[in-house]
Amino acid sequence: MQKLLIHNIGLLATPVGRSARGGAAQGEILKREGAWLTTDENGRIAEIGQGPCPVTAPGEYRTVDAEGRLVTPGLVDAHTHLIFGGWRQNEFGLKLHGATYLEILAAGGGILSTVKATREASEEELKNKAKAALGEMMSYGVTTCEAKSGYGLDRDTELRQLRVIRDLDRECPIDLVPTYLGAHAVPAEYKENREEYIRLLTEEWIPEIAREGLAEFCDVFCEQGVFTAEESRLILEAGKKHGLLPKIHADEIEAIGGTELTADLKAVSAEHLIVCQGSGIEAMARGGTVACLLPMTSFYLGSVYAPARKMIDAGVPVAVASDFNPGSCPGLNLQLAMTIACLKYRLTPEEMLTAVTLNAAAAIRRADRIGSLEPGKQADLIIWNSRDLDYLPYRLGSNLASAVFKNGTPLTSERNLPTIS
Ligand code: NIG
Ligand code: FE
Repeated sequence: MQKLLIHNIGLLATPVGRSARGGAAQGEILKREGAWLTTDENGRIAEIGQGPCPVTAPGEYRTVDAEGRLVTPGLVDAHTHLIFGGWRQNEFGLKLHGATYLEILAAGGGILSTVKATREASEEELKNKAKAALGEMMSYGVTTCEAKSGYGLDRDTELRQLRVIRDLDRECPIDLVPTYLGAHAVPAEYKENREEYIRLLTEEWIPEIAREGLAEFCDVFCEQGVFTAEESRLILEAGKKHGLLPKIHADEIEAIGGTELTADLKAVSAEHLIVCQGSGIEAMARGGTVACLLPMTSFYLGSVYAPARKMIDAGVPVAVASDFNPGSCPGLNLQLAMTIACLKYRLTPEEMLTAVTLNAAAAIRRADRIGSLEPGKQADLIIWNSRDLDYLPYRLGSNLASAVFKNGTPLTSERNLPTIS
């Protein structure tokens, strides 16, 4: 692989470290003006320096002039429901007329209607649809993406979703991290017999998925009318027993004790946390859990916003992700999530940068190799159409990623973007 030299970097901004940063450290960003960066032949960062850049032999490096712009690590989207059939625009009108998310779900719509569409979709169809979404994500600067199953809710369709994730990881430049979310809802056929559904999940499907190496994480939608805290504990413990690390959707709509499980389970991340209480924040602090917040979902559901500042005050590392899915957040623009995170969670641009890079990497156990610009880490990075960090969340809704690199190789070509001065 040809080595890369990026020179004339106006500002290189990155969190530092190989694990999540909580508390005051979340806002500590290393900033280097007038910097350059090189990679090795394996697509890892070799050196970062300031001032005159190294003299290189002709052809040894692909040389890129950053023209005085901002460079940061590539964005990590730590929470997506990437693989699904159909869309749910029919729910949009229902929402506008006052139907709530849980009412639509209880009436057999919501997740359950996507389950129907996903079961009917072929592997090829699911793959092509997700591939298009990944292309869009990469254009926004996402270089690693977590992807959940959870729209099959039976053995075969869940396996199909996970195989699509595995194949896309192999075929696309972006790295995909697979999570098994068989406990996303109780399917209609087990509505009267949820114990049997949980038995199948914990005794048959989790062991099989773990054996096949199709998932790294196990997740549960712990919510009123979906899975209780006790059921969530059972499912996540079964996952752990088979080597799948625990994540949990908790406190999205009602607080029913999901986040409080994180301390005992040593959950890697807890997600949503919109109505998270003090007891949940304490549990995350004790569990070493990353709080993965999804601001576009609050926006889309018209709900309140997670108490991010309280989490930061308690030393809990905060990550921000898209939650891309066909129901509560049919959007994948992580740059928009960055803006909402600053405005609604009151994150500083520095805290926000850590939230979408290093802490997001920690939420998917990748902080040792991605999430910051340091020698030895993967050269996943963005040259922004910006000269400073504040400009990123300030520019609502525009795509400011000028050039995106994965393992030192360009994903997108440099585009003609508006002037930045
Ligand atoms: O994270 N809350 C559960 N899962 C998704 C929504 C899934 C859907 O509505 O299809 C979420 O918001
Ligand atoms: Fe989700």
